[in-house]
Amino acid sequence: MLIRSRRGWEMAERDATPEGVFHDRRRLLRGMGMLPLMAGTLTLTACGEDAAAVSSDDPTAGLYPVQRNPTFELDRALTDEAEATTYNNYYEFGSHKTIWRAAQELPLRPWTVRFDGMVEKPMDVDIDTLIKAMPLEERLYRFRCVEAWAMAVPWSGFPMAKLVEYAKPLSSARYVVMSTFGADHYPAPGLRQRWYPWPYQEGLTIQEATNELAFIATGLYGKPIPKQNGAPLRLVVPWKYGFKNVKSLVRFHFTDKRPTTFWEAIDSNEYGFWANINPEVPHPRWSQASERLLGTGETMPTRIYNGYGEYVADLYKGLEGERLFT
Ligand code: MTE
Repeated sequence: MLIRSRRGWEMAERDATPEGVFHDRRRLLRGMGMLPLMAGTLTLTACGEDAAAVSSDDPTAGLYPVQRNPTFELDRALTDEAEATTYNNYYEFGSHKTIWRAAQELPLRPWTVRFDGMVEKPMDVDIDTLIKAMPLEERLYRFRCVEAWAMAVPWSGFPMAKLVEYAKPLSSARYVVMSTFGADHYPAPGLRQRWYPWPYQEGLTIQEATNELAFIATGLYGKPIPKQNGAPLRLVVPWKYGFKNVKSLVRFHFTDKRPTTFWEAIDSNEYGFWANINPEVPHPRWSQASERLLGTGETMPTRIYNGYGEYVADLYKGLEGERLFT
């Protein structure tokens, strides 16, 4: 019950900046010509970067932009980069939407990614070695948060199937569990909130992880992915609610046991393992029938599997008895 009261999307109205107000304020500031000015100020006072800036000490920064894969088309305009990089969920840095500035403190190098569990041979791989070994491409994907806001963004990265191939799991492995950094890597302020089951962890079946749509992002808008969006390595599964898209990964653990995921551990009645998008299955406390497009004030009907059913619906054949959609 204590934990329930701490959940970000249950924030008291007075503690939250509703998205509409947040963006109206940005629009107002932009109209007044103040947003670039403020960004400039932040550049001076924060950490030498604005929300979408590229760090010069990133050895793989020169790889971007990468070639777009034309297979994945959108049914809506791309979200404004400034919106997608300043309205975020990243509880390690706080339970509000404006964590982008705090996230700039996250050190990205050295960054080691561990592959372990049911694999031929556990390994620790340096992030730049991993990125250089992967076939980078750009994909335009829709993204739908469980909170009913949505965006459409150009991710750069590689198919997760390539990463699974690289990890060499044993044939007995059934799940891959992905974890974000913990306090040993960087003591982000949210990690001091002990009631959360850190580290943030998510899981997919091997079939889901090797589906054509499952993607590991290393870039966004033709540049290395910003820290607040999950640098240097982040899962993107566009047919599932946003909370499955775990950020800043340090570990891929292969197992034959279904893991308990971060939000599932907090409240399994509200956030399940599968978390596939379905407009007809409401969240226990709100409807999922439609979604607000970030930064536009527009609303669109939500589509089952976020409109990606042709790629993923078959993954769930025979699992109809399971709670696939919340
Ligand atoms: N990953 C970590 N490590 N920590 C988080 O708090 N939030 C999730 C997901 N991945 C989260 C995370 C949620 S609830 C959402 S909606 C998306 O990240 C938001 O991604 P974005 O900030 O890039 O839009």
